[in-house]
Amino acid sequence: MRFAHLDYAASAPCVRAAADAVQDLIPWCGSVHRGTGIRSRTSTRAYERARERVATFVGARPADAVVFTRNTTDALNLLARALPDGTTTIVFDTEHHANLLPWPRQLRLPCPETPDEAVAAVERALATVRGPALVAVTAASNVTGEIWPVRRIADVAHAHGARVAVDAAQLAPHSPVLLTDLGVDYLAFSGHKLYAPFGAGVLAGRSDWLDAAPPYLSGGGASAAVGDQPGDVTWTTGPARHEGGTPNLLGAAALGAVCAALHRADRAALQAREQELLARLRDGLTTIPGAVEVTAFRGAAPRVGIVSLALPGHDPARIATHLADRYGIGVRAGQFCAHPLTRRLIAGQATTPCGDGTPGLLRVSFGLGTRDDDVDRLVSALGALISTRS
Ligand code: ALA
Repeated sequence: MRFAHLDYAASAPCVRAAADAVQDLIPWCGSVHRGTGIRSRTSTRAYERARERVATFVGARPADAVVFTRNTTDALNLLARALPDGTTTIVFDTEHHANLLPWPRQLRLPCPETPDEAVAAVERALATVRGPALVAVTAASNVTGEIWPVRRIADVAHAHGARVAVDAAQLAPHSPVLLTDLGVDYLAFSGHKLYAPFGAGVLAGRSDWLDAAPPYLSGGGASAAVGDQPGDVTWTTGPARHEGGTPNLLGAAALGAVCAALHRADRAALQAREQELLARLRDGLTTIPGAVEVTAFRGAAPRVGIVSLALPGHDPARIATHLADRYGIGVRAGQFCAHPLTRRLIAGQATTPCGDGTPGLLRVSFGLGTRDDDVDRLVSALGALISTRS
């Protein structure tokens, strides 16, 4: 039986472009930025080529930096450490923990009922802030798939002199994420959700705060000159300031190759196909007794291919295990590193806790490799499992 991977929101399988990039480069791997030999030169070129490809993918402006990180969490932690002193970060409690926990001085807003309310809440919050401000918001929720009104939030933020950082981990695999179209200052995303291997992510955006901040990792590569006394060091500027140590060449090259492939692809067609799958899934779910699709916003909002379900009377973790063991289907159950949001979505639903006693949801998410029959198999397997107690 074909394994139906319906957990793209956690990690997407690598595409051919990523595998080819790794395979082509492996024989030439050498020290990036640190050598004159052919391996070192080839590797340096490949690394910087990857950066250019990512820059194109995110529509980087001339003064923007593209910094390679480990993943979205790493990218947002880097930005959090680069904030000018006294910066207030406005953040909704609906965020993935990667975009909820790093911000040192935050004004946390409750989940808005609608996209309009999200924009209004940011505006009200900004009116109370003195000093530098950043709005940190997701582009698409990793729990509900709902797309947030990033462009409108950015317009409001900029009118108040604030900046905007976007967690694009869930939108980038599904839709173009251009800094200019979104009108934002920073974007963060992960390779492993974008059909590339684990261990490479990106922070892209305005370079001034990054160049003024202490290096994320002190060490070689980040330092331009080091004197004899402790603290006698001149740090470099540009992406290298925050990429201390030998970088993840293969991760960056694979991620750059996927970015280039997606940039060339007909993304409107891919999005249309994904919406067909989403409609098929939601149609099928209407036949599952008691299953409730949860949403943060009241009413329909545009969304990517992620659906989370409350399954009253059923332990979602057990259902997920049975889907894997009996039907060869991979989904995720739990709270998806977004505990405040998930708790809110569950409140009022007669859900059964996961085996460990915590409440949870069952999440289905898809991507480029998903087929109609994957969705159909999931619906029929869920129907069979739900009709028996588990
Ligand atoms: N952030 C990933 C998820 O939502 C791991 O599953």
